[in-house]
Amino acid sequence: MPASTELLTVAVPKGRLLEESSHLFERALGVSPRKLLEGTRKLAADAPAAGLRFISIRAADVASYVEHGAAAVGIVGLDVLREEPRDLYEPLDLGIGRCTVIVARPKGAAPLPRGVAPRVATKYLSLAAHHFARKGVPAEIIPLHGSIEVAPSLGLADAIVDITETGETLRANGLVIEEEVLQVSARLVVNRVALKLHAERLRRLIASLREVVAAPVRKGR
Ligand code: PRP
Repeated sequence: MPASTELLTVAVPKGRLLEESSHLFERALGVSPRKLLEGTRKLAADAPAAGLRFISIRAADVASYVEHGAAAVGIVGLDVLREEPRDLYEPLDLGIGRCTVIVARPKGAAPLPRGVAPRVATKYLSLAAHHFARKGVPAEIIPLHGSIEVAPSLGLADAIVDITETGETLRANGLVIEEEVLQVSARLVVNRVALKLHAERLRRLIASLREVVAAPVRKGR
């Protein structure tokens, strides 16, 4: 199939970004990856009229798919991109998936004595290490994959570094924000080779998405 007619693969993240990503594609191109993929165990769905194939990928894996060219385009949170920098073109802040990477500690916890390295539970190993290194604090990073907020109450950690959106999970686990590390939103990322091979189609795709990101959502639509 010539490069011009090949379907371009778009990696969309499962989970919290799926709904908002699908809404953007629906407004930009009239196709919703969520609707195409729902009710099936198939992890790929074609939208030939739009020239796209959507694949449903774990949020943490989207950048790998795009960097290695298995997908031409993807949607990735800035937290993931900063945690593990990649060779990707990042043309657009999609303005969705807004949250904040924070340091949180148990409410009312006494300040740690000087010279004591805080034990910090997180899945953001690099972001957390850099944050404490910048402050000159010799933190001990405790790697976890999820349910981070429960770690302090069980004595596993003095603090956590994690994302918060509504603050609900922090509150429910008796934690308060001590510092903000990074403001996060989702970014459109593009494979650098695909950008050369399909320059015109990708330019149009990026332009359509840029237009809907900039346009206010009309009520009732
Ligand atoms: C994230 C994060 C918190 C929660 C915060 O987890 O790790 O647990 O969301 O959201 P809130 O401030 O609105 O309560 P996510 O749901 O992405 O799942 P995860 O545990 O797999 O990271």
